Amino acid sequence: MSKKLPQPTTQPRERAFLVGADIHGRKQILTLEDSLAELALLADTAGVDVVGELTQKLHAPNLATYIGPGKVEELKALAEETLCEVVIFDDELSPRHQRELEKALKTIRVIDRTALILDIFAQHAHTKEGMLQVELAQYEYNLPRLTRAWTHLERQAGGGGGRAGSTGGVGLRGPGETQLEVDRRSIRMRISHIKAELEKVEAHRLRYRAQRKRSRIPTVAIVGYTNAGKSTLLNRLSKADVYAADQLFATLDPTTRRVQLPGDELALITDTVGFIQKLPTALIAAFHATLEEIAEADLLLHVVDISHPNALGQFQAVQETLDEIDASHIPMITALNKADLLRNPENAREVLKEFPKSISISAMTGEGIPDLLHLMREELFESYSPIHVRLPYKQGALISLFHELGQVERVEHERGGVVMHGRIPGRLLAQFSPWHANANPAPEGVEGNDMEEV
Ligand code: GTP
Repeated sequence: MSKKLPQPTTQPRERAFLVGADIHGRKQILTLEDSLAELALLADTAGVDVVGELTQKLHAPNLATYIGPGKVEELKALAEETLCEVVIFDDELSPRHQRELEKALKTIRVIDRTALILDIFAQHAHTKEGMLQVELAQYEYNLPRLTRAWTHLERQAGGGGGRAGSTGGVGLRGPGETQLEVDRRSIRMRISHIKAELEKVEAHRLRYRAQRKRSRIPTVAIVGYTNAGKSTLLNRLSKADVYAADQLFATLDPTTRRVQLPGDELALITDTVGFIQKLPTALIAAFHATLEEIAEADLLLHVVDISHPNALGQFQAVQETLDEIDASHIPMITALNKADLLRNPENAREVLKEFPKSISISAMTGEGIPDLLHLMREELFESYSPIHVRLPYKQGALISLFHELGQVERVEHERGGVVMHGRIPGRLLAQFSPWHANANPAPEGVEGNDMEEV
């Protein structure tokens, strides 16, 4: 099936044709139609005009060209007719798919959703760490796909690195080595250089995070599908001016602000990168450090755009990524945002039931924000969970944390440490989880275990 969309009238931008495949039996969060609509939005964010789209139902992707050979011919004719410079596939293409398709489509470039997202990320990263992370992901994505001259890649990688012959040329060029091999080797060197740089930046951030932990101010990470309204909410909560735009992935680097909760309690709130279905695994790996910020939070504030027709699908896509980064155990509040756009707010009450601990808000108008702040306070400071932990004396900081912020019911002294029973704020559970002990005390006369770090 193919359809041509109305031609754009604005100044010339790159023109793209989108391609999507409906693969039999594949588990998908979005329908093909919605996924292509999202791809079109991504293309627009990257500064590309979409002039048409082509879809195909397949039992399995074609080994050489992903879509069937007949479809490739159809695509070529359509792309030429609409003067396209680039074709964007909704699924991740293997290096072979990309090569074969570019061979068939001649002068038209072929990219996939991953390359498009990488491109957007490259445009939106502001901090040193964000830029290094994106550059690394771009090089790792491009390395197996390298079939052209370095100059082409240099442009794609946002200017990082240098020309093979000029930066790392001396001593690199072996006898009979092709330009391609030299290029590959230079990229590998650049990759190790970026990794080393990233380690330094990350070490700095870890120290900063440790400081924050010592300050005992709880942290809240705002998570949510791209464009859900996370930055707008952070601005509303902290009255800070964080960049909010009706574009995908306007926020790439975490931005932390201090927020005053009712009763004069404080929390640190971090805005994080927008999630998306089919978030490329290369990107999850590259943004691991940033995403770790989420896994370390005391509470997650999951913002959902309730006015979006596929709000539930977007919610699930975010949950899947949270699972992947081991953050699904953290207590979570769901903020159903953009309530001001609902035609019938009564329906929202029904929808709310679908989401755990949810509240309806509008980050734009401020509706529901006081209730949200109360709920956050409750979750952070008033919800206690029962816990039994065996703590060696070496973990003195945790023992005093339990005494200070928890409700201690019983303490048993053992060789080398204590077993503590009681209740602690839910947000501290993760810190104590390596030390879980049996709820029942050891029978009299039986020595407890020697305490070793788990
Ligand atoms: P990413 O950076 O892509 O992850 O986006 P984000 O989740 O940070 O979204 P952002 O705050 O940039 O908001 C996206 C768009 O939604 C902007 O145009 C906001 O003005 C708009 N928006 C956010 N909250 C509301 C709301 O409560 N109501 C309405 N009507 N629009 C909102």
